[in-house]
Amino acid sequence: MEKPKILVTGGTGYIGSHTVIELMAAGYEVLIVDDLSNSNLEILDNVAEIAGSRPAFEEFNLCDRSRLFDFFRANPGIQGIIHFAAFKAVGESVQEPLKYYRNNLVSLMNLLEGMQEFQIPAMVFSSSCTVYGQPEKLPVDEFAPVQKATSPYGNTKQICEEILEDTVNSREDIQAIALRYFNPIGAHESAKIGELPRGVPSNLVPFITQTGIGIRDQLKVFGDDYNTPDGSCIRDFIHVVDLAQAHVIAVSRLIEKKNKSNYEFFNLGTGRGSSVLEVIASFERVSGQKLNYQIVDRRPGDIEQIYADTQYANEELGWKAQKSLDDGIRTAWQWEQYYRKELEEKVS
Ligand code: WQD
Repeated sequence: MEKPKILVTGGTGYIGSHTVIELMAAGYEVLIVDDLSNSNLEILDNVAEIAGSRPAFEEFNLCDRSRLFDFFRANPGIQGIIHFAAFKAVGESVQEPLKYYRNNLVSLMNLLEGMQEFQIPAMVFSSSCTVYGQPEKLPVDEFAPVQKATSPYGNTKQICEEILEDTVNSREDIQAIALRYFNPIGAHESAKIGELPRGVPSNLVPFITQTGIGIRDQLKVFGDDYNTPDGSCIRDFIHVVDLAQAHVIAVSRLIEKKNKSNYEFFNLGTGRGSSVLEVIASFERVSGQKLNYQIVDRRPGDIEQIYADTQYANEELGWKAQKSLDDGIRTAWQWEQYYRKELEEKVS
């Protein structure tokens, strides 16, 4: 039997590359489209090593509608799209909002038009817990109100969810699932793929591992005077491999027509909140070394705490995060130590 074909946009990126591995392991044929604006083609060598074969790849930006349509024409029979490709730097989106609105919205609209034109029935969309802002009730479930976004980036995720919902509700032939990620961390067990931030990382875990290895002098902990048990912020850190597996389940659900409505959305978190200081303690435990850090003022715009209610995803998708915070930090540290540098050297 022919393997079902899935297009993964942004498939050379952090979450995309892990999802490509899980899709291939589950028997899907994967085609990747990526403009390499925040990733490197060399990662595909490592993906091929892990998966045993190399996924098809084309380099272009999805805002190029005629190029995308040529791609769909040349690759008939795609059964589903997992759409990761997007700009994601919160700070940059405040400086250059139009860059974010154009890229993130136009690419989604082009894909949706392509799905209609070329009879592609299913899309899984990469969304974010950022849509909840600071929720009133914790853990936060899917039916908590969406709050006004605090950055243009966050707003693109909200608007994209609305575009998706309106589009799939206007017709019977396409269906979608939005997956709202909490804080993805960690790397593949092989340490051959992982997160590769450009420049100074703004996210906690890559900053910790870079400090641990000596690329950064010191981690700044943004605030220890929050209303939390140890005073630092609380997040739900979800292992990227758990996240990747949820995408395989979601796209299969759509292909097998097991979805309950045209548009569904699920939280992807562990259900457990961990504080910034607990993450540092986890790093010290798994690496066996002390981390140089200092408490500084709060970072503007940070929410105090958020973690997922996972019941709906557990019941409907039959999915539950399996890996612990220590698993995430350990694999992120292995990736930092053995492969990230090697890959950076290869591409520089
Ligand atoms: C986590 C905690 C910081 C860096 C990001 C995206 C957001 C969403 C989820 C995508 C916070 C603290 C961090 C540092 C620190 N994802 N911290 N020192 O803010 O939860 O959100 O992921 O859609 O859009 O921005 O993640 O990793 O930046 O921060 O103390 O050097 O770590 O204050 O409490 P965040 P983060």
